[in-house]
Amino acid sequence: MEIIRTIKQMQQISTQLKKEYKQIGYVATMGYFHEGHHNLMRRARNENDIVITSIFVNPLQFGPNEDFEKYPRDEEKDSQEAEKDGIDYLFLPSVDEMYPNKSIINMHIDGRVDVLCGKSRPGHFNGVLTVLTKLFHIIQPDKTYFGLKDAQQVAVVDALIQEHNFPIELIGVPTTRESDGLAKSSRNVFLNRQEREEAVWLYKSLLHGKQLVVDGVKNPDIIIKEVRELLREHVTGEVDYIEMLSYPELMPIIDVDQNTILAAAVYFKEARIIDNIIFNSDGQIKELIN
Ligand code: PAJ
Repeated sequence: MEIIRTIKQMQQISTQLKKEYKQIGYVATMGYFHEGHHNLMRRARNENDIVITSIFVNPLQFGPNEDFEKYPRDEEKDSQEAEKDGIDYLFLPSVDEMYPNKSIINMHIDGRVDVLCGKSRPGHFNGVLTVLTKLFHIIQPDKTYFGLKDAQQVAVVDALIQEHNFPIELIGVPTTRESDGLAKSSRNVFLNRQEREEAVWLYKSLLHGKQLVVDGVKNPDIIIKEVRELLREHVTGEVDYIEMLSYPELMPIIDVDQNTILAAAVYFKEARIIDNIIFNSDGQIKELIN
């Protein structure tokens, strides 16, 4: 595995690989790898000639009161693990390399962001889309792998690829979970023991909501109410949102008669934890976007 730190070198390598008709798979990350990241990398490894992973904690997507400074980082361990996953190139640009000057062009997305995490993190997805636009131009992947743990992110990247005509196939990869069901996240390290035990109720509550759909309940208000009650009963953290929307359009629904996302976010003392389930009108799990 080769570690690349400059945009120029990364772009030259990708351009050369394209000339050789190599299929490039790409996994964008902010590092501090866990099984969720590894599953994306392994999947990319299985499906492409060359796999490129980037680690870049992108300041543009953190709000002023968010955790950019304290976001966990471990470049050494990540590099060793990426090598074990069979990654060919690990792109590790610095903030100065990616943003040498204050940018005068920034991406701005209007749709799919006034709900879920976008509502409580204004500007977050603009930052995500700005960095991904740069990274897609630098890395020039054929396929890119994103986790459905961050389903709204998959929906906005889907819009970016469609509307800005990137010749890239987007693969939404199912959420990797701890053995009790908690979605793996770099932020889980900020949960204390009690919160860690409570946090599994995000998934359990969402599963209960999905089961209601299987049982024939189609009214989102009823489902959300039951999910809220379960969370209130089992979690001391403050519920940020519980929402049910069409997927990937993320529009309000009056009935579960299409692909639907049921998602929740909870503020614990030191971390905000999110989870979601995507299912069809019968309540069957629908994990993939493509
Ligand atoms: P990061 O949080 O590091 O996540 C990198 C990728 O790993 C994302 O596609 C995310 O959805 C996926 N991922 C995280 N936890 C997962 C889990 N439990 N199961 C499956 N996939 C999981 O998301 C970002 O970084 C950034 O916003 C980024 C896209 C890199 C842009 O800066």
